[in-house]
Amino acid sequence: MEKVLTVDPSNHRVARAMARQVADMVIDHFASLANRPVWHEGDAWLPADGRSGEWAEILIDMRSVLEHSMQVAHPKFFGHMDSGPLLVAVLADWVASALNQNMLAWELSPLATAVEEEVIAWLCALCGMDHGEGSLVSGGTVSNLTALLLALQSVTQGRFRTEGVWALRRRPVIFASDQAHYSVVKSAATAGLGEQSVVKISTDDAFRMDPERLRTALREVRASDASPVMVVATVGTTSTGSVDPVDAVADICREYGVWLHVDAAHGGALLFSEQKKHLLKGIDRADSVTVDPHKWLMQPKSMGAILTRHKGALRNLFESGAPYLTRKNETAARPQSRGGMSLQGSRRFDALRLWVTRRYLGDSGLTELVERNLAQVRAWADLLRAHPAFELAHEPELNLLCFRYRPAGVADERLDAINEEIQRELMRSGEGFLSVTSLRGRRWLRSVFINPTTREEDMRAVLDSIEKIGQRLYGR
Ligand SMILES: Cc1ncc(COP(=O)(O)O)c(C=O)c1O
Repeated sequence: MEKVLTVDPSNHRVARAMARQVADMVIDHFASLANRPVWHEGDAWLPADGRSGEWAEILIDMRSVLEHSMQVAHPKFFGHMDSGPLLVAVLADWVASALNQNMLAWELSPLATAVEEEVIAWLCALCGMDHGEGSLVSGGTVSNLTALLLALQSVTQGRFRTEGVWALRRRPVIFASDQAHYSVVKSAATAGLGEQSVVKISTDDAFRMDPERLRTALREVRASDASPVMVVATVGTTSTGSVDPVDAVADICREYGVWLHVDAAHGGALLFSEQKKHLLKGIDRADSVTVDPHKWLMQPKSMGAILTRHKGALRNLFESGAPYLTRKNETAARPQSRGGMSLQGSRRFDALRLWVTRRYLGDSGLTELVERNLAQVRAWADLLRAHPAFELAHEPELNLLCFRYRPAGVADERLDAINEEIQRELMRSGEGFLSVTSLRGRRWLRSVFINPTTREEDMRAVLDSIEKIGQRLYGR
């Protein structure tokens, strides 16, 4: 049979049949997911020679891909800031892929431009930046890098873009907590400031930035030959989900005239939480904010957002005319091309899946999802507390919780290796998935609840698996 390249009138029946086969296969897979292993090592099944084949064979291969992949949608997967995506977002993604818009220029994506504008306005409004602007980006890393570039433009009165680091009269310093995501350091290196330009502010018992230490560090830097460029407050640290005191940090940034960036890559979902929204107090005072809808908002990867309350700042940084692109919408005041608002060049119509999600669930539906995860982590903490062999590293502030297996009679110095081994064995068993992290130099198991289908019996089953592994490995 002739191969279908794109859909056209001559082949639409075959194309429809192909699409339906894929849709059925995907739905069948997820309908039976709970009975499958969470994790697979395996690339053993991959056809080695990469030869071309018939669609029927490829369908078999794709089923195999579905079955042999790591299953982030599994109810017993609660190990990372990843999740099975919302179905409506997946379906919208298919439409976006089929349309293949390019956000680079208005002429390539007039309607998509309007949709992204609406999505960004919504996120800005939720952050209390009614007159702000922003762009969807590939994720938190690019968003944090963009925030740093914005801060550098601001501190050099717009000269950073043309003169680079030569526009900086004094040694630049970035401040972030010792729990901030590594992309802050990576951004400093990428922007040409060097990793050493990041000063780590120590955190309290709950892994939150200590604002008084920030004040002291800023004072010391001001008194030296260096100059503060940006302070990063994290809302939802990667290991423990801790939330820096944004409002207190904003006070200090105002006092010292420093750019405040709030990295709410994960904790931005709290914008929808009735219970925990208070933790975001002060976010409206941020100069820039990172939100990653591909984390707690259950969007397919990849999707981050950079938001700033300084209108025009992104274009000042990134706009550059190319003679072959009509960026400007000459027919109306809006929407205007968004290509000059991001580091990326060609960019997907990512906004559609978040726009459809909002249309489908509404803000209240997202609230319900986020609060369900908060209830799950509380139930999980209760299960762990009730069990003498487990120890919590902290109380769960968001949907993350670190803990360790600590059977009676085992010496402290063996616990790191034991917990690492448990994480590995649990993963290999396919009976559950947790990650492992370091806190104050010790190794802890890490759990993150995003999947609404994880029930208490799934949590109990994972605890049983851990215990069995522990007993097998250590005889307790
Ligand atoms: C707080 C925080 N910021 C930034 C990032 C980086 O996000 P991405 O992996 O989307 O680049 C992460 C990732 O886990 C994060 O937890």
